[in-house]
Amino acid sequence: MAKKFYITTPLYYVNASPHIGHSYTTIAADCLSRYMRQILGEENVWFLTGTDEHGQKIQRAAGAAGLSPQEFADKTVLQFENLWKTLNVSYNDFIRTTEDRHTKTVQKVLEILYAKKQIYSAKYEGWYCTPCETFWTQTQAQDQNCPDCRRPLEKISETNYFFKLSEHQDWLIGYVLQHQDFIKPPSRYEEVLRFLELNKLNDLCISRPKERLNWGIPLPFSPDHVTYVWFDALINYISAVGTFDKEGKYVSKWWPADLHLIGKDILRQHAVYWPIMLHALDLEPPRTIFAHGWWLISDTKMSKSRGNVVSPLEMVNKFGVDVYRYFLLRDVPFGLDGNFSEEALVKRFNSDLANDLGNLVYRTLTMIEKYFGGKIPEGSVSAKNSQANAIRVKIEQLDIRIPGNLGASGDCNFNAVLENVWEIINMANKYVEDTKPWNLDKENKIEELKAFILVLVMVIRKIEHIILPFMPQTAALIKEQLGEKEIKKGGPLFPRIEK
Ligand code: MSP
Repeated sequence: MAKKFYITTPLYYVNASPHIGHSYTTIAADCLSRYMRQILGEENVWFLTGTDEHGQKIQRAAGAAGLSPQEFADKTVLQFENLWKTLNVSYNDFIRTTEDRHTKTVQKVLEILYAKKQIYSAKYEGWYCTPCETFWTQTQAQDQNCPDCRRPLEKISETNYFFKLSEHQDWLIGYVLQHQDFIKPPSRYEEVLRFLELNKLNDLCISRPKERLNWGIPLPFSPDHVTYVWFDALINYISAVGTFDKEGKYVSKWWPADLHLIGKDILRQHAVYWPIMLHALDLEPPRTIFAHGWWLISDTKMSKSRGNVVSPLEMVNKFGVDVYRYFLLRDVPFGLDGNFSEEALVKRFNSDLANDLGNLVYRTLTMIEKYFGGKIPEGSVSAKNSQANAIRVKIEQLDIRIPGNLGASGDCNFNAVLENVWEIINMANKYVEDTKPWNLDKENKIEELKAFILVLVMVIRKIEHIILPFMPQTAALIKEQLGEKEIKKGGPLFPRIEK
């Protein structure tokens, strides 16, 4: 296994407040980082997130708010930083594309690629969608509406700079074919491969004339143009963790990234533009790009205009951080779309958290209090009992299964891991019910009672360790309540929500 793990989230646009979609990718990245820290140690994991602050969207939102783009970005970025704090997101670095370290690297990349003749200027005539910041050809723009957002396109004619995407198409196809883990899940791998095999890549327009957009990084070889926001933003993944030396060689402790987590909406940019940009720079592509599904509301997209945007802060205030984190990672397989609703969340809360996990911890602590005066009995777990044995076997299987499901493998089967953990929780709860410890106590079978409690203590400690990346606060609370030698009983971890 690799000795280091470098994981990233997309850089979120600062034109609007963060919503549950943004929090989804970030929580997933946090979970994987925490898991990989357990395995590789703190110092070998690097978790990067940040904000995408240039471009038309931000310039326009700032204008509407009567602020300069920088003032506007400075204000909105706080919302992201505060939300990540609230959600216990343990990033190592937060990069903003308006920072010096980033703009310098972008300009360096442009210089290198220009010198290598990978960037050239040409007159562009065609159709442009300002909201999407995307160019379309005559054929694509049949009805003069944007094929993506359906808004009217603008006819433009201007000189721009282009990056030679097309030159590297065959290389990319070969690379994808040779690296089955490059794009995940497999459905997205197929999607990209098919796209590359069926379409001819156009060169990418990487500039915007200043008179049309001035909120961007100036091209070093043409100060009348700024850099296209996507070309700018993707570079963050290298600008945050390394620098180009005088000879133009990129030096970094962390590159290549082990995992770029993204939503399925931005797969093309990450799986086509970005690896080609890196290849043109003689840099290695990221090991894996994982594109997850979308959270929808009653099967429709969240949007301001529909007024159905869910605020992560509101959910956290209502239900608690870990409940929110648990729900997002448990309810839907990571690669698929899912519907977000409070009803679904409350259902999970009451069944998985209150009834199953909360109950197991609470009843175990109660028994330790009642039968052993709050002291955890000493001794090692000897599983003579067949149920206890089955639990042990299940835990051993899980230890083998988790690394294949999370992290270094590039897979993100959060829900599968949690399902497995809950099988163990349910087995342990059933073990309590079947053993009827109150009878053992009545009959004074202290040794049996002790053996029984020790199995439960072992199970809870194990669960606490496994759920830590998913629910850090709950794990800490369990650890505090079930101390090394004695317990410190508090209230139930998840008191049921009554409708
Ligand atoms: N700034 C670009 C990314 C540049 S990366 C170098 C961008 N920003 S964004 O603010 O629009 O964020 C997009 C990302 O937010 C998605 O890829 C996904 O990670 C997350 N989500 C936004 N809406 C989402 C849902 N409804 N559901 C799940 N995640 C989605 O694109």
